Amino acid sequence: MNTATPAKTQPSAAATADLKTQTRAWPSMARQVTSWLDQPLVTAMVRHSAIEDALAALHPMLSLSQVRARVVSITVETPDTKTFVLQANAHWQGARSGQFVRLQQEINGKRVERVYSLSALTEPCHLAITVKRHTDGLVSQHLHATLKAGDVVTISQAAGDFCLPESTEQKTLPKKILLLSAGSGITPVMAMLRSLREQHYTGSVAFVHMCRNAQDLIFAAELEHLQAQMLNLQLVTHFSQAQGRLDAKALTALLPDLADYATWMCGPSGWMDSMHAHWQQQLPNATLHSERFGSAPTLLVIEGAAATIACTTTGATFTTQGADNLLVHAERAGLAPKHGCRMGICASCQCTKTSGTVQNLITGELSSAPNETIRLCISAARSDLTLAL
Ligand SMILES: Cc1cc2nc3c(=O)[nH]c(=O)nc-3n(C[C@H](O)[C@H](O)[C@H](O)COP(=O)(O)OP(=O)(O)OC[C@H]3O[C@@H](n4cnc5c(N)ncnc54)[C@H](O)[C@@H]3O)c2cc1C
Ligand code: FES
Repeated sequence: MNTATPAKTQPSAAATADLKTQTRAWPSMARQVTSWLDQPLVTAMVRHSAIEDALAALHPMLSLSQVRARVVSITVETPDTKTFVLQANAHWQGARSGQFVRLQQEINGKRVERVYSLSALTEPCHLAITVKRHTDGLVSQHLHATLKAGDVVTISQAAGDFCLPESTEQKTLPKKILLLSAGSGITPVMAMLRSLREQHYTGSVAFVHMCRNAQDLIFAAELEHLQAQMLNLQLVTHFSQAQGRLDAKALTALLPDLADYATWMCGPSGWMDSMHAHWQQQLPNATLHSERFGSAPTLLVIEGAAATIACTTTGATFTTQGADNLLVHAERAGLAPKHGCRMGICASCQCTKTSGTVQNLITGELSSAPNETIRLCISAARSDLTLAL
């Protein structure tokens, strides 16, 4: 195993002390200010966003409601992967291992958002994300090139249901747990492994990870350390360059009792599809939880009739025709709805449909219920719509 000590950059002591001061008194004050701002008369006179802008100018960690997080340290895990340890302000409501956050960045004057799993959760307001740099990737390149210790980023509250049962439910944890990952998919399952160690989980844990070679092994040193600490951990690293792709046959050879494990799996789409097929065909009764980092699931391609979409928040109107989802149509019309994964996972693009019929492009389900929450990226209009957008 690669045991090279990862490079680390640390923030100044002043930055850390400054942060502590920011996070102590702020939440109750922010709640008071927010409730004052919610008074109808005040709402009519003061724009919420103007206050947010003023607070950000005063100090980047200050916000009425948003989670702001300062980069505490950066670890270079592999040639193309870095871990950013963040300390969040007091709006952070905590997370379960396996969940993700949406991280906002302003790049070339445009606000963009991407989804990152939490790779570690330590003290109450400490969290980490581990980002692989994609060659043509807008946000991953930007984070690698520009983010430094002391910088402040805006993140969402944690979301997602790819999690281990709550730590208080130790008794309900399965007796055998398989954490299965490939490439950067290691991040959420690493958080789970750390959490199992902290809970003193006594069942059997198999941690099976595939990457290209030893150089590409993220968290190499810590995995080795955990292996020495956790006698119930079976750690397997599979290097595809030398051993070929880790397929279901190779996995079964490693774990002949695979059917007895509850599995949490994360990795690129193509690899996950083949693993899913194995579980469906060979292990239909075994528990499998999974999360994809890669491209979107295959969405239904159904030609829709022309529809007019009225947006009640912005007052905009746009039309749709063809098979694309509402997010794409809104963007084509010059709107910039919030979005993250573009695959129906992260809920960033969620909005209320006040009226009309939409079709879910993953399930094919048609829905005409008024005031329902829809995800723009996996919904298509099947009639004129009114959206709170
Ligand atoms: C639930 C969830 C959790 C995630 N957690 C992590 C994480 O912990 N660490 C991490 O590094 N990434 C994670 N991702 C992926 C991350 O959200 C971004 O997609 C990734 O950082 C690329 O963004 P970008 O702006 O650099 O690339 P973009 O500018 O969006 O895309 C550039 C090119 O890269 C391709 N591409 C984009 N994303 C991927 C991908 N994930 N795999 C393969 N090709 C891709 C695109 O097709 C495009 O050709 C997660 C995604 C999801 C949905
Ligand atoms: S952008 Fe993530 S659910 Fe739509």
